[in-house]
Amino acid sequence: MEEQKLRTLLESMTLTEKIGQLIQVPGNMLNARGQELGVREDLGISEEILRNVGSTLNVTGAAQIRRVQEAYLRQSRTKIPLLFMADIIYGFRTVYPIPLALGCSFEPELLKRLCRATSEESVAAGVHVTFSPMGDLVRDARWGRCLESTGEDPFLNTEYVKAMVEGFQEGLSQEGACRGMASCVKHFAAYGAAEGGRDYNTVDMSERRLRQEYLPSYRAGVEAGCEMVMTSFNTVDGIPATGNCWLMRQVLREEWGFDGVLITDYAAIAELMAHGVAADKKEAARMAMEAGVDIDMCTDCYASQLEGLIREGTIRQEQLDAAVWRVLCLKNRLGLFEDPFRGAREEAEKQVFLKESFRSLAREAAVKFSVLLENKEGLLPLAPTGGKSGEARTGRIALIGPFADRKDALGLWALHGDREAVVTIREAFSETEGLEFAWCEGCETILPEDYTDLPALAAQGERKLWSREERNRQWEQAMELSGTADLVVLALGEDTIQGGEGGSRTRLSLPGDQMKLLREVRKRARKVVVVLFAGRPLVLDEVKELADALLLVWYPGTEGGSAIRDMLFGICEPQGRLSMSMPRSLGQVPLYYNAFSTGRPYDGHTPVRFFSRYEDCPNTPLYPFGYGLSYHSASYGPVQLDGTVLKRGETLMASARVTNTGDRAGSETVQLYLQDVTGSVVRPVKELKGTQKLWLQPGETKQVCFAITEEMLRFYGKDMSYQAEPGLFRVGICADSSGRLEGEFVLE
Ligand code: NOJ
Repeated sequence: MEEQKLRTLLESMTLTEKIGQLIQVPGNMLNARGQELGVREDLGISEEILRNVGSTLNVTGAAQIRRVQEAYLRQSRTKIPLLFMADIIYGFRTVYPIPLALGCSFEPELLKRLCRATSEESVAAGVHVTFSPMGDLVRDARWGRCLESTGEDPFLNTEYVKAMVEGFQEGLSQEGACRGMASCVKHFAAYGAAEGGRDYNTVDMSERRLRQEYLPSYRAGVEAGCEMVMTSFNTVDGIPATGNCWLMRQVLREEWGFDGVLITDYAAIAELMAHGVAADKKEAARMAMEAGVDIDMCTDCYASQLEGLIREGTIRQEQLDAAVWRVLCLKNRLGLFEDPFRGAREEAEKQVFLKESFRSLAREAAVKFSVLLENKEGLLPLAPTGGKSGEARTGRIALIGPFADRKDALGLWALHGDREAVVTIREAFSETEGLEFAWCEGCETILPEDYTDLPALAAQGERKLWSREERNRQWEQAMELSGTADLVVLALGEDTIQGGEGGSRTRLSLPGDQMKLLREVRKRARKVVVVLFAGRPLVLDEVKELADALLLVWYPGTEGGSAIRDMLFGICEPQGRLSMSMPRSLGQVPLYYNAFSTGRPYDGHTPVRFFSRYEDCPNTPLYPFGYGLSYHSASYGPVQLDGTVLKRGETLMASARVTNTGDRAGSETVQLYLQDVTGSVVRPVKELKGTQKLWLQPGETKQVCFAITEEMLRFYGKDMSYQAEPGLFRVGICADSSGRLEGEFVLE
């Protein structure tokens, strides 16, 4: 629709019609089936407002969306179509690995491809907006939503968010294209820094840290043109984000120039009362409006309060109009006025859901994101299987563990994924010609002591617990199989319900009887390969000791089983590098590589008391950020610089020779780290500033070059200006963040 016509439409709207555009209701209020993800309450929204609401969430499916849209438009005076938004986080029907795994690819371009593919399925299912990507930086493994983040590094997160926004929105602005969906960057801001890793908890940090480490990824999303931003649940400097004028108006809108739609997280306006900054709904609605929040997700605060606030003049009519205008513009950019059903077509669903190219993308992704943590004596890849006897050179294989045949190992946010389409490890093994194996689960993933609500879930029939007999039977079978096998593939992990929203944990160990299972299997089997499913970093010290090989597959998605089989048997090699540090002990958390030095840095050797250290545990992680093995080995030559001085506007080249010292081709993820040795404020001990992936044949050497510029050295200095300060810098080209920074140059 032409802008002028849209303006005329806005001017023709009644107050109620305008307010309606700013309200999002759950699907059930529109007579639709949707996923309920918040605390369910009767919203008490009047019939009149309901007839005019602007959007709904997590209602998907072409047929349903067409029906709901049609019914809505039939009774609507303005004929402004509804917006359908949904949490499509890492795939729609085809599910890809969780974002924390995606973060381990060090390959933003691949994320862009995944998001483009996700968009294709979602558009066919009628979705207009996805609540993704999540740009929250994470450092605390206790937080369940680590699984939705791409990790602990601002540089990588920035690249990923940009790639994801571009991938989701590709084709969006092409007229009549019905391609791409609008992307909503969330949760603005710093939701990942909840104290104690407890979801929804207080966030409090200096403005410097916020700007330097937490804000860049959201900003990258805005600069990539995301159509929407979501406020977070948490406080930022004492003021909940949803009512935080500084954050929303000054930073987001004024400094970054964001002119898209700002939506709250679920019920966040009403939560301003629980936070204790608003006495009632009226104050809560006023605060959110003043902060520039456009859409109220699932409360009646705007619905019940805006009219009064406007009539009494507390909220100006222009403020309301500006918010409604942004919503209308989004609807217009999506082409909804011309075609309110947009891409929603059952025919298209049939063609695109789980199509072959998406499945192979899912398989590629699972391989690129899996991290090989241990491979003692080069046990993996297992020798190819074959021969009629079904005996691999590896010997008899037993597949044991609660994740051996698990269809729902997708992570909590695969809301719309097709569980039946998931390939489990057992299925992939069974499909492999010549591969004979025996299998059993051995134990359950969790027990009531791991998850307080488990008995209640079981009582409601939402979860099946094993009987004592079943437990014993499974256990005995596992013992028997491991005693007779030459090699056990043990598929262990965190239960899906332990992560995601509201999934905070105080223990980072493997739940249930799984450690006991590992110990007992270890006693009986000659070789043990642990395949680990997880949505966050876990404490793996004992697993590291007991396993001969340890392959972290996170929640690997629809093609997980096939990818795992391919990696185990060397059809391809795991390529992931950790995007979050793995602690040795829970007590180290929050743990991240790009920390500050202290006044008493500990060198890790001298046993002296008065240093910044733990008495009972090293400071270092068990596995550092950027770490991951492959089936080849590599050596890195010293870093070479083409000068010792960097001048503003110029470039300094850093290079190193990387050699494949193994006997198999493989991919190396080369990482550039810099350290600003002295600054007007304390600087991190190192920061990732560049990555390159190389494919190396056995014995092959490649020279890797990175250009260092003054822009890369900028930070928020003492006076909060964002600039590079002259002085000494160190440079390292390394295989992971534990590498040494040997090169030096001076910025003039
Ligand atoms: C709450 C979550 O925090 C957010 O990520 C999600 O997009 C909304 N609910 C909508 O489901």
